Amino acid sequence: MTEAVFQRCIHPQCGTTVSLEDTSFQCPKCTGLLDVAYDWDRLPVPKSLKEFEKKWSNRTNKLDFSGVWRFRELLPFARPEQIMTIGEGQTILLPSDQVATYVGLNPGNLFLQYEGMNPSGSFKDNGMTAAFSHARSVGARRAACASTGNTSAALSIYCAATDLMRAIIFIGSGKISYGKLSQALEHGALTIQIAGDFDDALQRVQQVSRQLGIYLVNSINPFRLEGQKTIMYRIIEALNWEVPDWIVVPGGNLGNCSAFGKAFIELKELGLVDRIPRLAVINAAGAHTFYELYEKQKLRWNNGSPDFKVVDSYMKVMDAGNLRANTLASAIEINRPVNLPKALRALDRCSGVVREVNDQEILDAKAKVGSGGLGCEPASAASVAGLKKLVQEGIVSPGDRVACVLTAHLLKDPDATVAYHSADPKTFEEKLGKRGVRRAGFPNRAVQVSNDLDEIIKAIEVYS
Ligand code: F0G
Repeated sequence: MTEAVFQRCIHPQCGTTVSLEDTSFQCPKCTGLLDVAYDWDRLPVPKSLKEFEKKWSNRTNKLDFSGVWRFRELLPFARPEQIMTIGEGQTILLPSDQVATYVGLNPGNLFLQYEGMNPSGSFKDNGMTAAFSHARSVGARRAACASTGNTSAALSIYCAATDLMRAIIFIGSGKISYGKLSQALEHGALTIQIAGDFDDALQRVQQVSRQLGIYLVNSINPFRLEGQKTIMYRIIEALNWEVPDWIVVPGGNLGNCSAFGKAFIELKELGLVDRIPRLAVINAAGAHTFYELYEKQKLRWNNGSPDFKVVDSYMKVMDAGNLRANTLASAIEINRPVNLPKALRALDRCSGVVREVNDQEILDAKAKVGSGGLGCEPASAASVAGLKKLVQEGIVSPGDRVACVLTAHLLKDPDATVAYHSADPKTFEEKLGKRGVRRAGFPNRAVQVSNDLDEIIKAIEVYS
């Protein structure tokens, strides 16, 4: 390969390279996943991460304004004129002592990376701007994804804001929250609701994209993950370029954790950081394929040769029992994560762990995040619930510095939140109890009063 930027099979034994323009997103030789790969010696790489800080003063340049593209030297696959940005990545890392106390960390040691501040309200915009820019560079007119709701919201918003492509989204029937569905509908995406769940929708969208030559933006697309690397750059930037001890992230299709691993592997290779943080991936207990395979069956990256027989037999058992993912954290209700091998590589390099948390733990953690001042959707709070477990187990020490990624905004999925705080036992039972949540650990119930001034004043005095 004579180009400095190309795609390459992630399995070193194969290592087949593919041109940057290829959109099949699959190794032609071994069908493995692809990376976007760089010959760094031929690319202008900054000598120090501090060089990126200068871009803050140049807010009128839209590439410097973007929280993704101001790091463009670390994802140098697109020419500046090909880049499509809508101002994504203006997100913040906030210390939270309230949540630190809840999970058992010392005050000052927990940081929440709030990706809900993105234009479409989730971390997906980091990856979408990257995939979208690649799609544009290859002249795509239609782009598709299967989604539990956030990828589809991101694709819809990029298509609508740029008017460059038609968004075609596949969602499982009844499996998407209204906040996310409303985004796809409002932004004009062609919305195909199939009778099935996310895992079914993802298989279909891959077939359809191949057959109709539609550009695929699911996280099997390695360009998406290049954009998501920047979440890590922003975290360490906010920590004055110090690497935390742990990164904790929810796991669904395992794109994010794969991207985070790649970000740190590259930074270390380039000599831009001196160490790599540990990585914890948190599954919902109702969608715990990664936890089962990694922690129970000890599936490992194994220098690029994971034992795929273990994966196949696990999937066969799931198929035979028609076992479907089932969690209130609908964003991560996924049983067949496409990025599994990349996630194994990330855990290998980052001394990673995987944990599962149930819906009760997720909703209680979410309420704690909310009362601490940041609103997130259930899937995002899995990271906090998982961290609490890791501190209890003694894997994370109270003195460790930890960054938890809050992947999306509270308003994405308000249903569970309203039911959790509801004073009405019927509503609670209907929406949460039936799904295994026993009680609201931290409810904030609305106070019911008659329309009477004295009663209202009395209520305020009693409750405030
Ligand atoms: N958190 C949120 C809010 C998500 O929407 C997702 C994935 C994840 C976590 C998991 O990230 O797949 O990289 O492991 N949502 C996808 C979607 C699947 O279609 O919106 P992952």
